[in-house]
This record gives sequence, structure tokens and C-alpha cells, in this order.
Amino acid sequence: MSAAAKTFYMETFGCQMNAHDSEKVIGTLEHEGYVRVQDEEAAELILYNTCSIRDKAEQKVFHRLNEYKRMQGEGKQFAVLGCVAQQEGEKIFEKAPFVSLVSGSASYRNLPEMLVRLEAGEKRITGLDDRRTQDATFDTEFTTRSNPHRGYITIIEGCDKFCSYCVVPYTRGKERSRASDSIMAEAQRMASLGYTDIQLLGQNVNSYRDPLGQRTFAQVLESIGVLHGVRRVRFTTSHPRDFTPDIIEVIDRMPTVCDHVHLPVQSGSSAVLKAMQREYTREWYLERIGWIKAAKRDISMTTDIIVGFPGETEEDFEMTMSLLDEVGYDAVYAFQYSQRPNTPAVGMPDTVPDDVKSSRLQRLMDAQRERQRIAYERHMGQVMDVMVEGYNSQRGQITGRSSQNKTVNFTTTQPILPALGSYQQVKITRSFPNSLVGEAVLAG
Ligand code: 5AD
Ligand code: SF4
Repeated sequence: MSAAAKTFYMETFGCQMNAHDSEKVIGTLEHEGYVRVQDEEAAELILYNTCSIRDKAEQKVFHRLNEYKRMQGEGKQFAVLGCVAQQEGEKIFEKAPFVSLVSGSASYRNLPEMLVRLEAGEKRITGLDDRRTQDATFDTEFTTRSNPHRGYITIIEGCDKFCSYCVVPYTRGKERSRASDSIMAEAQRMASLGYTDIQLLGQNVNSYRDPLGQRTFAQVLESIGVLHGVRRVRFTTSHPRDFTPDIIEVIDRMPTVCDHVHLPVQSGSSAVLKAMQREYTREWYLERIGWIKAAKRDISMTTDIIVGFPGETEEDFEMTMSLLDEVGYDAVYAFQYSQRPNTPAVGMPDTVPDDVKSSRLQRLMDAQRERQRIAYERHMGQVMDVMVEGYNSQRGQITGRSSQNKTVNFTTTQPILPALGSYQQVKITRSFPNSLVGEAVLAG
């Protein structure tokens, strides 16, 4: 390590995969002797981890890079990481000449080497994946996790599904599963450090195929769920194509495997699903939902929906609205279709006008809010295990999360507030469309 350690500032946009990649990049930099600062003005190296899932997210990147421009005279170095870096590649250097390093997530394994070149003053360093490399995943023991109680583990990276609207197969490279012994070693390390809530991550987490051939995805869930100290195992995102009944069996059997499945449907119309290249129909999706509903536990279901995909008619959209009724989701993340560069949907005819897209989005969200108001009422009077996440002194409430990942705000008659990361039994007394309210049930 050099005498004067170099300082860095990390800024992150995008999904949980990106948030966790940043934790790994921070850990790697710290291992290389860099020191993290919370103020960009004080940093010698500014890293920016980017998202390009929708046009708005991407525009944000270039807006932010423009703001960085004013700092370029201050001797700082700049690195652009993540999905916009991979998508735009060397074009970033043209748009923002003060940037020295551009790397997509599939190249983070090479970061230590790229940092050495950066130190040597090189100006145009790239780590770009061409989908041809069959490289391993980015496993590092130098992960700096931001929360001491709940943490992520990546089990599969990249994507080979090629849905026609989506940039991810181009920005995150080929699908690569991590060896299950490496996953287990990391889970074990986290459990012994006191992590009780472990969330398995992947673009399609249930497409996991153990390169060692030792464990299925459901067996990975189970193996982590039995580790001493682990109280919750979560996983996201599941893809309907690879969703199998053994996942539900393991949830039913193992109280530590969380009773929540995020299963993006994208549309309720089989015609739109076909154009999206999702490779399933409405009926096929509903069959999987039927399995989940047949479970012994009340498994919470959430989804992602895109409205206004090219060719989506009013009837197609009504099919999506009726799916909300048929499934009964606890949360829906809905987006207006946004055209992404290089994806098959570019150039599809029958684009839906922006005002139609936004009115469909509003109708969908209004309908879902009303359904959630009713759905959340089922928890009235239940006693839930809640992990404490914070305190809201203004409202005099403790905030936490249930096993189903629902927000629970509660009060206690105890003089001392429960510790962050502890688990409390809470009796639910009120419900809202997005949260529950209750009172701590005292042990005794
Ligand atoms: N336009 C709008 N939404 C999109 N998503 C992915 N690609 C697009 C796009 N081009 C949504 C999907 C996905 C979620 C992460 O983002 O619903 O599940
Ligand atoms: Fe954004 Fe998708 Fe990349 Fe995540 S994987 S950062 S959502 S583009």
C-alpha cells in the first residue's frame, strides 16, 4: 500500500444486483488500499455505477456526468461502471473525455489490474464484455456490506433469456452460475458474522445451475436455511420459465425460507407475451401461480408489469388488469415501455402513444392500490416476526419488515427500544395498502 492512501467515492443507481456489485467493488478497492469517503469533493477517484433498464435511468447518467465535468480540473479521476458503461462502451470517452475507466459488470474480476493501470495514469481503460467469454462470476471475499444484519449473495449473473424489450442480456453478459460450494462458503461466513437475513440475487435466480452439479436452486435455499444463525433466506428475481414446484416445497417445509415470490409476468395477454418473447402464455403463468396458492403457507406474490409495449391493444391491457384480480398480488412494480438500444423490440410497429401509456399505467396502479388495501387486511390480528430496521421518532414508531417483506411499523410498551436487526413479535392492529401497523407482543 502506498504511503498516502487514495480516496474514492462511489455512487450507485439501479437494481439490487447493482447495489450488491457496488458493495463488491468497494470491498475490492478497500482491499487494494483505497479509502472510501462520503463526500465526492474529498475523493480522488469517483466511481459511478450505472443503470440503463429504461431511457430515464440512462439519461440520469449523462446528466450526472455533466455535473462531474466541473470537477475535472481538480485532478480527480472518473470511472463509469455498470450497465450504461457496458452498453455505451468507448462512446463514453467521447461524451465525457474526463472519464478514464469504463467497465461493465462482467469484467469486475479484472478490477485490481485495471486499478493498477489507472494508478499509472492510463486514460482509456476498458473492461467490456462481448458475450463470447465464458468467464466465471465475480466472487470476492472483499465485499463491504452496507447493512450488518441483512446481506446479498449473488448466485447467478448475466442473462440468456433475450426478452425483446430488455437490455440486460447485452449489459450483464452471458448467464453464469456460481459454484454452490462458493455460495455456501460465503453464506457460512455471513452467518458467523451475525447476518440473519440472506438474500440470494440473480437476474433469473431460479435459472441457477450448479457448475459442480451438487445442488439445485431449491437445495441451495435449503442448505442456507439450515445454517446456524440464519433466520431468513430470500431470493429475487424468479423467472416464470424456470419456476419449479420444488421451490414451493422448500418454502412449505422450511420456516427460514421466506414466504414471498417475486414472479414478473410483464403482461396478462398471451399475444403481448409472445411479442415480448417471454416464452410462456397467460395460462402457463397462472398454472405456476396455482402451485404457489396451493402451498400450505400464505406465500406473498409480487410482480413486474410493462404497459404500452408495441402492439398492446386496449383488450390486451384489459387482460393485464384482469390478471391482477386472478392472482391477487401484494405489490406490482409497473413501468411504461421504454425503447432500448439494440433490443429486438426496436422497430416493432404499432407503437403506443405516450399519453395512452401513461393513462394505462395510472389505471393499473389505481386498481392495484385498491386490491392491496383489501389484501393487506388479511393480516389484521396476526402475530408476525418482524426484523427491526429503524426508528421513526416523529411518529414514535419502530420500523421493520416481515418475512413476506412487508413494512411493519409498531410500538412497544418496553422502556428500551429493541435493537436494530433484532426480531420482535408484533400483533397487527391496522393495515394500509403498503404497510401494516402493530404492537410488540411481549415475551413471557
Ligand atoms: N421498458 C420498460 N420496462 C422495462 N423493464 C425491463 N425492460 C424494460 C423496458 N425496456 C422492466 C421489467 C423488468 C423490470 C426490472 O424492469 O418489468 O422486470
Ligand atoms: Fe439496471 Fe438492469 Fe443493469 Fe440492474 S441489470 S442496473 S436494472 S440495467
